[in-house]
This record gives sequence, structure tokens and C-alpha cells, in this order.
Amino acid sequence: MSEKSTKSFSRKDFLKTAGSGVILAYFGISLTSCSGNVTDASSSTNVDTSDPNSPITINGDVITVDLSRSELEDLNESGGWLLIRDAQTLLVNIDGTFFRAFTSVCTHANCSVNWQFDGSNFICTCHNSKFDTSGAVTQGPATRDLEEFTVEREGNTLTITK
Ligand code: FES
Repeated sequence: MSEKSTKSFSRKDFLKTAGSGVILAYFGISLTSCSGNVTDASSSTNVDTSDPNSPITINGDVITVDLSRSELEDLNESGGWLLIRDAQTLLVNIDGTFFRAFTSVCTHANCSVNWQFDGSNFICTCHNSKFDTSGAVTQGPATRDLEEFTVEREGNTLTITK
């Protein structure tokens, strides 16, 4: 599955093109980059958390995600994932109902926005380190696992605590 980002794509266009694979990357307000020639994260959703109607709210170290919102419908499927840039957080749906969340600050050289997900591994495209869905390093140059955050689910609401 390709994770190339085409920012001019509408969300629906992307989902049509993406087929059964579910890849969502959440774009926040600010973009950061690390040195080198890097690829931006895959994106099919552009949600502004400063919007009072955002399905994602950030309050300090607590992030709330409303799974019932249409903008995030594909996150309900196994393999759905988000990069919540404003909270430096990766979120992945493990099996259709169970979610895990991790820091998006790569343990190699602190890139935080250049992420892809191949269905099994998060890939930091700054230098292509890979981490599985438990946050463990599966390919260097990173040598340390991603810090995991707590995810609690109540109905369609996820609460991530950093
Ligand atoms: S910062 Fe180098 S692989 Fe992530």
C-alpha cells in the first residue's frame, strides 16, 4: 500500500484510492521537519484541533478523540491510525476495538511529524526507523522503543493520557 501524501486530494478521493487499507494521518496546525530529505506523513484527514467542532480535543496531557465523528470513521477499523501533530501522538486501532497510543517523537533524532504506517509498523521517514504496534523498534537506526500513552475507551470516546 502506498502512503504517499497528496495534499490536494480530498479525504474521499484519498479513501477511494487507498482501497481497503486504512491510513489516516492527522494534520495539526504547525508543521515541523527534521534535517534531510524527508517525506511527509500520509494524510487523508486534515482536522484543526483549534476548531471548537474538532473531533479531537487536546487539554494539556489529555487528548480526547470522538470516534463517532465522520471525519474519523476509518479509525474505527483495524489498522486505522492517526498522527495527532499538535499533541505529538500516534494512535492506532489494533483489532477493530482496541487502541494504542505512542509519542510521535522518534527516539532516533526526535522527528515528530514524518510518520507512515504500513499496517504493521510505524515508519519514521526521517531515517526509516520502524516501530511495531507495541512501540518496539523493529528497524534502526532508532534503538529505543516509543513511549506508550494510556488509552481508555468509553463508548465512542477515547481518552489518551500522556
Ligand atoms: S528521527 Fe531518525 S528515524 Fe526517526
